[in-house]
Amino acid sequence: MLDFAIELAIRAGAELRARHERERSIESKGYADVVTDADRASEALIVGAIRERFPEHSLLAEEGSVGAAASPYQWLIDPLDGTLNYLHGMPIYAVSLALLYEGELVIGVVYDPPRGELFAAERGHGARCNGRPLRVSSTPTLAQALLTTGFPYDRAARPDNNLREHNRLLLKAQDVRRPGSAALDLCYVAAGRSDAHWELGLSPWDTAAGALIAREAGATITDWEGQPWRPGGARLVASNGRIHAELLRELALARAD
Ligand code: IPD
Ligand code: CA
Ligand code: CA
Repeated sequence: MLDFAIELAIRAGAELRARHERERSIESKGYADVVTDADRASEALIVGAIRERFPEHSLLAEEGSVGAAASPYQWLIDPLDGTLNYLHGMPIYAVSLALLYEGELVIGVVYDPPRGELFAAERGHGARCNGRPLRVSSTPTLAQALLTTGFPYDRAARPDNNLREHNRLLLKAQDVRRPGSAALDLCYVAAGRSDAHWELGLSPWDTAAGALIAREAGATITDWEGQPWRPGGARLVASNGRIHAELLRELALARAD
């Protein structure tokens, strides 16, 4: 199943790359939230292949595809994570595929077409990028840490929009980035390229694959209260472990401001 998921993510990524050069049709799902023909084509390719190979599996995909109703196996699919980047020509986007068995993450694959980087993990077997084992960073303090974050699409309408947390952490950490693909943000924690990612308002398909990859590379993943993060949890903190308590403390202080 891991080989199947890897091959599928690469095929969907090739479809996204091929379409990048072409004229695009865009629909709006809400403020800053858009869907393109590329999201839909990638989803159709992925969902078609899963339905053919594993017709009994259940699935949940961002653009609305669903699979068989009751199955211990469930695929969580983001056919294009980083749609706004893709639309503007910013080369930070990915295909994200995860498989759960009885609610537990067992496989995660994130493919970055512009860089040709394939991140993959199988529960209990570590995480890899293009075959090389991944390990989180050893940065010991928040002051030395490079963080990533993200903001929900409905940020203008909700007071709980991560702006207070962002502003506080920007002054506490070495720096903060907002790359625009939560799936890749989590893979970068796994690879030790960043020291932590925090975000709220996430959907199951944004985080499932990246969270398994990060966890298998040694990351600590919790909600914002330090409770275990479960697939589907909308608030997540994924870190190298060493800065986790400090980061949770600063998030709590930002909320109390
Ligand atoms: C979005 C990206 C972004 C995150 C948003 C997601 P999409 O996914 O992962 O980094 O901040 O919360 O919705 O819409 O590009 O698939
Ligand atoms: Ca997404
Ligand atoms: Ca998406």
